[in-house]
Amino acid sequence: MALRSVIQGCGACLPAQVLDNVELAERHGLDTTDTWIRERSGITRRHMAGPGESATSLGAEAARRALAQAGATADEVDCIIVATATPDNAFPATAVHIQRELGMTRGFGFDVSAACTGFIFALSIADSMLRSGQARSALVIGTEVYSRILDWTDRGTCVLFGDGAGAVFLRAVEGSERGILSSHLHSDGRQAGILYVEGTDGPLRMAGREVFKHAVTKLAAVVDEALAANGLDRSAVDWLVPHQANIRIIEAMGRKLDLPPERVVVTVDQHANTSAASVPLALSVAVGDGRIRQGDLVLLEAIGGGLTWGATLLRF
Ligand code: COA
Repeated sequence: MALRSVIQGCGACLPAQVLDNVELAERHGLDTTDTWIRERSGITRRHMAGPGESATSLGAEAARRALAQAGATADEVDCIIVATATPDNAFPATAVHIQRELGMTRGFGFDVSAACTGFIFALSIADSMLRSGQARSALVIGTEVYSRILDWTDRGTCVLFGDGAGAVFLRAVEGSERGILSSHLHSDGRQAGILYVEGTDGPLRMAGREVFKHAVTKLAAVVDEALAANGLDRSAVDWLVPHQANIRIIEAMGRKLDLPPERVVVTVDQHANTSAASVPLALSVAVGDGRIRQGDLVLLEAIGGGLTWGATLLRF
């Protein structure tokens, strides 16, 4: 019987420090307003890592919570895949730091670099490994501390990002109706210059308007691709869990799928754009508050620097 990769637990971890738009502007001397940020992006606040917090510490805590929700222990994890653009070190990978933090003494871990689409790429790799039998279980984690790579004089960009981590724990299950149905990945290096980090330490540079234009068309296309690959109509989708970059992009995708707003998970107002962490964070919130239930058809999508973009369709 065919193996399916089934999410058995989700977890999230947000830094303790929260700044609303006015506090952010005051702290960094930004010439901006709460109204501008809300109207252009939907963002009202974001979490910001403090001195003791890092991609490793936030990611490890999100992973612990995902394991706890699954009723699993770190001994049962075969593989850790971390999506991050803000690792603690160029190497070793954040995944092996998290492996150590979890007390794991076996298995393997590595990081994936696909910017805001990183979680979808990491999930797709984990799914391939689980279905091929290379691993029987996996932690897939998105963890970011973008506050450390922002240019605080670039008001069009620095107001849009936040810090945090989200994680899922998956197992390979034989003959399950649940699990990942398919993932669809894309990149186009010709667009590398519209959203990138200078060198390895930053700052982040973004041509916001250009990115916006690509976002709606590319996400709409990859969503159609995911549905067509599974012979499903958009009406079959119970939940859209989109990358949380901008409320206007999220609403455009909801309209495209004919989904009522209450079927679209939105956290951008509370978390801002947490890049690779945004999809697992949003998933974790909607699973945690009981909206997403076992058996629901869930569509994940994201776009980010590269450009990279992708979608995953799964039965939760
Ligand atoms: N506060 C007040 N004014 C600001 C500002 C801020 N924080 N940032 C920019 N502005 C000003 C600009 O200077 C410009 O003023 P001008 O017309 O006098 O020159 C005006 O607002 C419009 O700027 P523009 O950059 O054209 O705004 P926009 O409508 O394109 O919105 C974004 C900017 C970044 C919110 C929007 O382009 C966006 O959301 N892009 C997608 C970003 C994204 O999702 N990236 C992540 C993908 S992973």
